[in-house]
Amino acid sequence: MQIIKTVAEMQMISAQIKKSGQTIGFVPTMGALHNGHLSLFDKARQKADVAIASIFVNPTQFGPNEDYEKYPRTLEADSEAAIKHNIDYIFIPSVQEMYPEGYSTYVNIKNITEVVEGIKRPGHFNGVGVVLTKLFNIVAPDYAFFGQKDYQQTLVVKQLVKDLNIPVEIFVEPTVRLENGLAMSSRNKYLSEEERERATIIYKSLIEAKAAIQEGIKNRLELVKIVTNKLNKEPKIKIDYVCVALADSLKEVDQFKSNDNIVILIAAYMGNTRLIDNMLLTII
Ligand code: PAJ
Repeated sequence: MQIIKTVAEMQMISAQIKKSGQTIGFVPTMGALHNGHLSLFDKARQKADVAIASIFVNPTQFGPNEDYEKYPRTLEADSEAAIKHNIDYIFIPSVQEMYPEGYSTYVNIKNITEVVEGIKRPGHFNGVGVVLTKLFNIVAPDYAFFGQKDYQQTLVVKQLVKDLNIPVEIFVEPTVRLENGLAMSSRNKYLSEEERERATIIYKSLIEAKAAIQEGIKNRLELVKIVTNKLNKEPKIKIDYVCVALADSLKEVDQFKSNDNIVILIAAYMGNTRLIDNMLLTII
């Protein structure tokens, strides 16, 4: 495995791979790798001739009061994990390399960014959009792999590559969880053992909504209430939002219909740590 630190070198390597007729599978990350990321590495490895990952804690997607400074940076362990999972190249640019003095271009993704997570984290998805546009231009992947864990992000990425004609196929892979149900996240590193156990209420509340849907509930507010009530049973959890919406558009219609594909999105604080999770379900 090779570590690449400059845009110029990464672009040269990608061009050579393409010229040789090989395909590139790409997994963008912010590092502090866990099994969620590694499952994406494995998918890229299986699908493409050459597997490339990036590790870049992207400043433009963090709000002023968010955790950019303290976001976990574990490069050494990350490199070892990437080697174990047979990644061919990891691209680890500096902030200066990605956003040099005089950097001036931003993307502005509308509609899908203007709901749920986009409201709570203004500018976040445009930051994701700009860094992914750059990474796609630098790495030139045939396939790129994203986790369902960040569900709204997957919708934003699909919109971005469609609108800007970026020739990459997007794959969305299932959320990897701890045995107790907690979705794996780099931010779980901020939690104590006890908090990690208490945070499993998030997954349990999704399971409760799933059961309600299986019993025939189609009303959105009823589903929101079931999830909210369950979350509120854990006194250390503070709900940021519970959103139940159509999976494709994130439209919050009052009454769902049979066969509607819906998503339940949760953001909640455990102490100072903001956790997100979701579940895709079909109305019966
Ligand atoms: P990061 O949070 O590091 O996540 C990188 C990728 O791993 C994302 O596609 C995310 O959805 C996926 N992922 C995280 N936890 C997962 C889990 N438990 N199961 C499955 N997949 C999981 O998302 C970002 O970084 C950034 O926004 C990025 C796309 C790299 C742009 O900066």
